[in-house]
Amino acid sequence: MTQAFKTRIEAALNARKDQALFRTVHAFDSVKQSQISIDGRSYINFSSNDYLGLASSDELKIAYQDSVTKYGIGSGASPLVTGHSTPHRSLESQLCEWLGYSRALLFGSGFSANQAVLFTLLEKGDLLLQDRLNHASLIEAGHLGPANMRRFKHNDMEDLSRYLNGSQNTLVATESVFSMDGDIAPIDALLEHCRASQSWSMIDDAHGIGVLGEDGRGARSLSEHRPDILVITFGKAFGLNGAAVLCGDDIADYLTQFARHYIYSTAMSPAHASALSKAASMIQTQHWRREKLFDLSEQLHNKVSDLHCLVETKTPIKPWLCGESNNAIDLSNALKEQGIWTTAIRPPTVPKNSARLRITLSAAHHESDIDTLSYSLMRSMEAL
Ligand SMILES: Cc1ncc(COP(=O)(O)O)c(C=O)c1O
Repeated sequence: MTQAFKTRIEAALNARKDQALFRTVHAFDSVKQSQISIDGRSYINFSSNDYLGLASSDELKIAYQDSVTKYGIGSGASPLVTGHSTPHRSLESQLCEWLGYSRALLFGSGFSANQAVLFTLLEKGDLLLQDRLNHASLIEAGHLGPANMRRFKHNDMEDLSRYLNGSQNTLVATESVFSMDGDIAPIDALLEHCRASQSWSMIDDAHGIGVLGEDGRGARSLSEHRPDILVITFGKAFGLNGAAVLCGDDIADYLTQFARHYIYSTAMSPAHASALSKAASMIQTQHWRREKLFDLSEQLHNKVSDLHCLVETKTPIKPWLCGESNNAIDLSNALKEQGIWTTAIRPPTVPKNSARLRITLSAAHHESDIDTLSYSLMRSMEAL
């Protein structure tokens, strides 16, 4: 490595350490429902996005294994070459029917799906309006892409409407459920603004799909209007990974021709697509998973309401605001001592001075897990 690279990297790493922002990766040894084992010690996992508890479901494992037996392990190619199989096709049809679109395109991740849409659809001279707190994949695509980007105030439709002048081709993008705050965007009002100003609308439903609405339709349950582009990801409520872009025929055809993340990337395996189809059916029929999440959420709010640190949300994402990064790390470590895994989320993932524990609930949790979490939070807050 040249000295200049070395110096730059060392300086950046030291700065992260000095500001209590240094990240490390932990490998888990095993997972069983709400329990996760890391470095030989067992914890209750309150950091996963496996909201419905599907990631370790036996039904899903069997669907995956059966499909591996039939189709093998890998897809072997990108979708336009020979990577697209009948399980991929059935998954797409199932998602279209469920969510009310004519087409779905599958991607390896939500990050690439978001970037593919923004990079491909927008051109120089277009206007991209994004909620200030949108996910890094969207904001980064906006910074790197050719369109003029403006970030409107979080969930503020008045601020959004200031930018909607109808004189440019405009795309408005928001998350449905905000990943770090757990609050819900005013989807109905936003889609109404888009309709009135003839702007395209794009909803990233990563944290809404499977969780919101009676049969888990996520953002689609929040409004009569349909966004032009709906991105759903499979790494959260579906319990797997990957993503889909749902849209009309014209956009789907356009992305198929020009979206580089789609064209030049190996398709997910057929077995993965089969398991996702099974997960989509389970999400729609196993209502008890959402009901349980709601009950656990109520239980947690009731138990810790006196501490005033937990933000009350209608989703399984429960931010516990700590302010300084060091406070979040100390609380996270204190909880680990008591057998609870909650990751400290710090800038730049969240704005400055808003470090937090991002506590997430799952249908895999037991009531006793919530009791343990509440008790440990109270104990740790007293001790710190
Ligand atoms: C709102 C949102 N969009 C997109 C993504 C990216 O999805 P994936 O993990 O499938 O790349 C995430 C992931 O954390 C997310 O929270």
